Amino acid sequence: MQSVKDKVIYQVYVKSFMDSNGDGKGDIAGITMKLDYLKRLGADCLWLTPVFVSPMNDNGYDVADYYSIDPSFGTMEDLEVLISEAKKRGLGIMLDMVFNHTSTDHEWFRKAIAGDKKYKDYYIFRRGREALPPTNWISKFGGSAWEMAGESGEYYLHLFDRTQADLNWENEDLRKELYDVVNFWIKKGVVGFRFDVVNLISKPDVLEDDLNGDGRRFYTDGPRVHEHLKELARNTFGKHHDMITVGEMSSTSIENCVRYSNPLEEELSMVFNFHHLKVDYEAGDKWTLKEFDFMELKKIFNDWQTGMEKEGGWMALFYNNHDQPRSVSRFGSDSKYHKESAKMLATSIHLMRGTPYIYQGEEFGMPNAYFDDISEYRDVESINYYDILKSKGMAEAEILEVLREKSRDNGRTPMLWDDSDGHGFTTSVPWLPFAKVPGISAEADLASSDSIFNHYRKLIELRKQYEVISDGTFMMTDMENSHLLCYLRCKGTGKMLVVSNFYDDETEFDLDKLFYETSIDFRKCTFESVLISNYYDLAKVGEIIRIRPYESFALYVEDKHPSC
Ligand code: GLC
Repeated sequence: MQSVKDKVIYQVYVKSFMDSNGDGKGDIAGITMKLDYLKRLGADCLWLTPVFVSPMNDNGYDVADYYSIDPSFGTMEDLEVLISEAKKRGLGIMLDMVFNHTSTDHEWFRKAIAGDKKYKDYYIFRRGREALPPTNWISKFGGSAWEMAGESGEYYLHLFDRTQADLNWENEDLRKELYDVVNFWIKKGVVGFRFDVVNLISKPDVLEDDLNGDGRRFYTDGPRVHEHLKELARNTFGKHHDMITVGEMSSTSIENCVRYSNPLEEELSMVFNFHHLKVDYEAGDKWTLKEFDFMELKKIFNDWQTGMEKEGGWMALFYNNHDQPRSVSRFGSDSKYHKESAKMLATSIHLMRGTPYIYQGEEFGMPNAYFDDISEYRDVESINYYDILKSKGMAEAEILEVLREKSRDNGRTPMLWDDSDGHGFTTSVPWLPFAKVPGISAEADLASSDSIFNHYRKLIELRKQYEVISDGTFMMTDMENSHLLCYLRCKGTGKMLVVSNFYDDETEFDLDKLFYETSIDFRKCTFESVLISNYYDLAKVGEIIRIRPYESFALYVEDKHPSC
């Protein structure tokens, strides 16, 4: 397995990245047009969201044919060109494998529904209980997780939309079909894969009602999931020493993530988990409005960083992806301190232990969409929840406010390449409206002297230069501080301190106190000790550093004595 420790991965949400043919939708040829921009940023790999044939009910996460490119994204040749052009620039392409479910338009599902026994066993069909579905499980997109299959009295399981039918990984033929898919794409020259909700693939033999929840405790990190992943690896990417793999893990645990990602287990290179992105959910419910809980965020970072390190696991580091609102709007400030807070968030996450992911647009601080009307949304989950919240009696204005904060479309608005009408993304009408945020674009950012893009570029360079970043230990300090996220990284004599202010008011950081608590001495640090900062200088007076709104910096010293 290739070392992923000094790598940085850039996520392309294909439909919103770059439209090369003026149909309002991003496509593969559009990505090729932007390779020099991505090369300049310095990321190692591009993860493309699914580009396979799909009815697009969930924007490609409902795959109808794993072997062909959806015409709206281009052709196989476009992908081959992208792979080879990327390679010329030292960039690898990773594809997104959606193997927990297929679209109900997939040939396998069609045959299953038509009564073909072989294919019926590729899915999870069960008889209902009189007028009720087989269990009371709730789909992740709202409503029952079961859909009636025609007149048969049988239902099929769908943990997501009803057009995304869950696959039965207990069936060996199905598993082999999926290995063939992975091997097909490896031959095309991709360097790795992201596996969609891959910790949900193993369902128990007997499916029962969940009297305490929505059913997830029965199928999350399910009974044979590690066995399945080991077999998948052995038969596909595990045969190639240099493949990069990342599994998306829904509602998972540290213990399981260690097993998914410790190289000795021979499963995956690393994992995404989402616990840190639920700190603005009221009582675990996403569809609520709540200020993010900073102390909880710190606790989760600390638990995961130390827990994964202790047992040799490896994690993906990220705040943004195509399922999340934009971090600068969520945890920072997308108006007065836009640049400061975008850079602070970048520093705070990139310098942790793990592999950082940059989600398109994050590198110039793209904010939330700020839509005012339900007609502007496209996302199946957002539209379902609009109806669900309405039926629960929530007022229209409040629902729209919740969507403005929580909708996945916040992360999916097309790239703002420049300030022109089509924002350099398209020459026609975009499939999803642009974010309503005048003045923010890649072009404007790159033209400014304090560019966010350059800050990301610097962070990537530092990871490659300093082993303390790619391979150091992690220790959080100042746990009780209600404004600052502070941590130490250590590798041999190299010691790095990272301090990030998550608020728009001033505070202080005491280097003396740090020395007495950890015996690591940053008191003599000079201008040269500052690896990166989002202000021009460090406001250090004696042993105290005055921390300004959203200020963030990393200090580096060589210190022979103690280790953290
Ligand atoms: C993952 C994807 C998300 C998709 C879901 C179902 O969470 O990131 O976009 O809707 O899986 O495939």
